[in-house]
Amino acid sequence: MANSIGRFTIILACWAACVSGLPIFNHFAVKSSSLDPYPTKPRITFRADGTFKVTVFSDLHYGENPWDAWGPQQDVNSTALMKKVLADEKPDYVVINGDLVTGENTFRENSTRLIDEIMAPLNEAKVPFSTTQGNHDNQANISHFEEIQREQSVAPLSYTRFAPPGIGGEGGPGNYWVPIYEKTDDKIPVLILWFFDSRGGFSEGPNSTSIPDWVDSTVASWIQSETTQMNAVWGPSENRGALAFVHIPPHYIQAMQPGLNSTRDPGLNADVMGQGSAQATVDSTDQGKDQPFWDALNANVKNLHAVVSGHDHGNEWCIRETTKQVIFCFDKHSGYGGYGSPGWGHGVRNIVFSSPDPTHGLETWIRLEDGETRARVILDENYM
Ligand SMILES: *[C@@H]1O[C@H](CO)[C@@H](O)[C@H](O)[C@H]1NC(C)=O
Ligand SMILES: *[C@@H]1O[C@H](CO)[C@@H](O)[C@H](O)[C@H]1NC(C)=O
Ligand SMILES: *[C@@H]1O[C@H](CO)[C@@H](O)[C@H](O)[C@H]1NC(C)=O
Ligand SMILES: *[C@@H]1O[C@H](CO)[C@@H](O)[C@H](O)[C@H]1NC(C)=O
Ligand SMILES: *[C@@H]1O[C@H](CO)[C@@H](O)[C@H](O)[C@H]1NC(C)=O
Repeated sequence: MANSIGRFTIILACWAACVSGLPIFNHFAVKSSSLDPYPTKPRITFRADGTFKVTVFSDLHYGENPWDAWGPQQDVNSTALMKKVLADEKPDYVVINGDLVTGENTFRENSTRLIDEIMAPLNEAKVPFSTTQGNHDNQANISHFEEIQREQSVAPLSYTRFAPPGIGGEGGPGNYWVPIYEKTDDKIPVLILWFFDSRGGFSEGPNSTSIPDWVDSTVASWIQSETTQMNAVWGPSENRGALAFVHIPPHYIQAMQPGLNSTRDPGLNADVMGQGSAQATVDSTDQGKDQPFWDALNANVKNLHAVVSGHDHGNEWCIRETTKQVIFCFDKHSGYGGYGSPGWGHGVRNIVFSSPDPTHGLETWIRLEDGETRARVILDENYM
């Protein structure tokens, strides 16, 4: 980094930090990073026509029952779906939103080979992407940590990162953000994609024990410190758009389901949410454990267009959540593995920004494998 740019950045940060009375360590954090977490990777940008398309795969569930005919054929079909959708949609960014594998069916000696299988179509399409991990990705023979490490080693266009040490709690290292710029040479991003680790599943090894299924409270302070740095270097949070991904729906989403209106909130609604369907519902004493995360996300990240989750394979709807007024969307069960029902189909959620203006709404819909689309909604201030 050129000295002059570094010094300019430090002065700006010092000004912001001194004015707001922030502790001194912020100066060093800003100095050392300049806030580009991907200095060696291609910058991700909007298209020249001002649009940006994200395609979300979810719940691929590779690796079921490798000992019989049923599981391996599911994976053949899931790979075919990925290839077809990537070729048709030509997204600018891909998200795989958790439960990449059915970890409880995997073997110690080769479990991460499934990650190689999932990465193959993405490597072939040369599309930038990143992943969240789900409850089935933490099991006796595999973990979120191992999956991310493997992904980073086999997929050159993976933007998945680990949270700093101490952030994320047991089994939850996958908390990070990805900056999206309007143009390659821009200094300041117009959109931040946030990714959170809702953990769940089981610890590794023969005496595997269950892991809490909510975003750990340490992530709340991390969101605050990251956004403080962003604001110091890039200016106020209002200058950027945001979109968040987390495998298990936040706790409050479950209470929204009875109020769905199929005209306003279209899409399959075939999974009645119960115990285990949303974060922090392991038992009654665990209710609301994702509250620090939910509060910090909504307080610090402005222009948050939507929070997107998978986990409940029979749901596709979006709704405006009433405690924070933020829009929530389910993505679409993509994998032939994992539970399902013949009528549900397999596909993806597409999300399209039509302008780099951070306040501009976006359009989203479900695309099925055969190309059929449904549940199209505009996510903006008029939505609900
Ligand atoms: C892993 O090994 C098991 C047992 O040998 C085998 O059945 C399975 O197909 C292998 N899985 C992968 C992904 O290579
Ligand atoms: C895989 O896809 C083919 C073609 O669409 C279908 O006929 C078959 O039933 C699918 N297999 C599984 C295991 O879902
Ligand atoms: C884990 O891998 C080992 C070694 O392949 C295997 O014996 C075991 O059945 C696997 N599954 C679990 C849940 O431990
Ligand atoms: C697992 O638990 C058993 C029974 O308590 C114990 O004997 C064994 O040492 C434990 N194994 C590991 C790897 O911790
Ligand atoms: C459902 O939403 C539509 C479109 O916004 C609206 O016209 C209709 O009144 C709503 N129905 C109910 C029962 O709220």
